[in-house]
Amino acid sequence: MGTALILLAAGQGTRMASDRPKVLHKIAGAPLLHHAMASGRALEPERVVVVAGHGAEAVSTAATAIDPNARIVIQDQQLGTGHAVAQAMPALEGFSGDVVVLYGDTPLIRAETLRAMREAREAYDVVVLGFEAADPGRYGRLVTDGDALLRIVEFKDASDEERALTLCNSGIMMASAEHMAMLVGKLSNDNAAGEYYLTDIIALAREAGLSAGVVRCDETETMGVDTRADLAGAEAVFQARARAAALAAGVTLTAPDTVHFAFDTALGRDAIIEQHVVFGPGVTVETGARIRAFSHLEGAHVSRGAIVGPYARLRPGAELAEDVRIGNFVEVKAAEIGAGAKVNHLSYIGDASIGEASNIGAGTVTCNYDGVFKHRTEIGARVFVGSDTMLVAPVSLGDDAMTASGSVITEDVPAGALGIARARQETKPGLAKRLMERLRALKSRKGT
Ligand code: UD1
Ligand code: MG
Repeated sequence: MGTALILLAAGQGTRMASDRPKVLHKIAGAPLLHHAMASGRALEPERVVVVAGHGAEAVSTAATAIDPNARIVIQDQQLGTGHAVAQAMPALEGFSGDVVVLYGDTPLIRAETLRAMREAREAYDVVVLGFEAADPGRYGRLVTDGDALLRIVEFKDASDEERALTLCNSGIMMASAEHMAMLVGKLSNDNAAGEYYLTDIIALAREAGLSAGVVRCDETETMGVDTRADLAGAEAVFQARARAAALAAGVTLTAPDTVHFAFDTALGRDAIIEQHVVFGPGVTVETGARIRAFSHLEGAHVSRGAIVGPYARLRPGAELAEDVRIGNFVEVKAAEIGAGAKVNHLSYIGDASIGEASNIGAGTVTCNYDGVFKHRTEIGARVFVGSDTMLVAPVSLGDDAMTASGSVITEDVPAGALGIARARQETKPGLAKRLMERLRALKSRKGT
């Protein structure tokens, strides 16, 4: 049977103290909403409905960027989680499988947990994800009888006895679309908050002769983000998981706690990642490549056997072939570097291609920007670029060409040619010594 997701993302997130809607704040380089939708993807949903309200325009743009098929429902007034789900139901017209309600601000639910909920649906009509809270605070409490869930009581409405319960509601629920529509249709807002509580559907389900049960998960999974401190906490959980997953997949992390992952970082087996490496979105490091300390990578592909850093920066479109060497204080952007090529020191390579086995000397710069347009630099195979060469793009160096150190290359250098573009040296015998003597004499006269 198919599955549909409803993501609740209409809340304001006042406590973030932000101009940006809460669900668009990022962890690991992707919005919270992205993480919530990504965990739901484990159920291979047929439909995805996002309920937007505050910042609806930005939220719906982001949601369709994450999943072009996502349907956006606008909840103009936030009258409660039950009201939000009711608003989403018309977007499930014609769908007859199971519905899972997820929160856009709850980014850490694991795929296994959602699959366990789907399995539990074989035993119960409504399944709620619960957790044992170390500090139950203001969470809704799950009132159970053995394995059966009797009802959920919101903190505001709970008796002292109910507040003493530690099994809490994560908010994540699953039921058939048919039951969900029927149950949210019966909700009222007769409670302490004057809201339509989704949580009331459990008692309503039992009144209708349906069964309800609880699947438990670890508290860290249900962590919701309400404040910047929560955001930092969720980031820490994500990073800890990413590091553990990399280690388990056969990646060496010499100091795991110092490596920062993005949501989509892909590291091959036997890759070695040294201390203080930061991955922005879109990085792939193939098997056996090594990223040395203090490097920053984003939108880059590093092939087998390549070595990057220490202190290197790979920006979007950096495409490194096998056995490439990128050394300290080198920046690469939108450039393909051919197999075995070396850019080892203090260089900027942008909007360029470099052929295999070429060597780029220290301090080389591709001058790619004229203030309005970007221009490309094409470097062939086995080229030797002398130190401190300025390559004023558009410009090309043919295979086996060379440039002399300190050259400002403004014209193409054909295959096998040497480009030299600098003033010829003059040497004045004895002049340095005479100059220094004159300056020192001047200084001592001034001192007196
Ligand atoms: C909810 C649960 C509570 C549970 C807790 C877990 C209800 C009534 N209570 O409480 O049992 O322990 O989550 O974190 O469900 N939203 C909308 N539209 C609305 C209201 C909310 O889209 O009209 C969204 C919010 O943006 C948020 C989510 O639903 O993503 C949860 O709403 P929130 O107000 O945080 O519910 P809690 O009071 O935390
Ligand atoms: Mg909440």
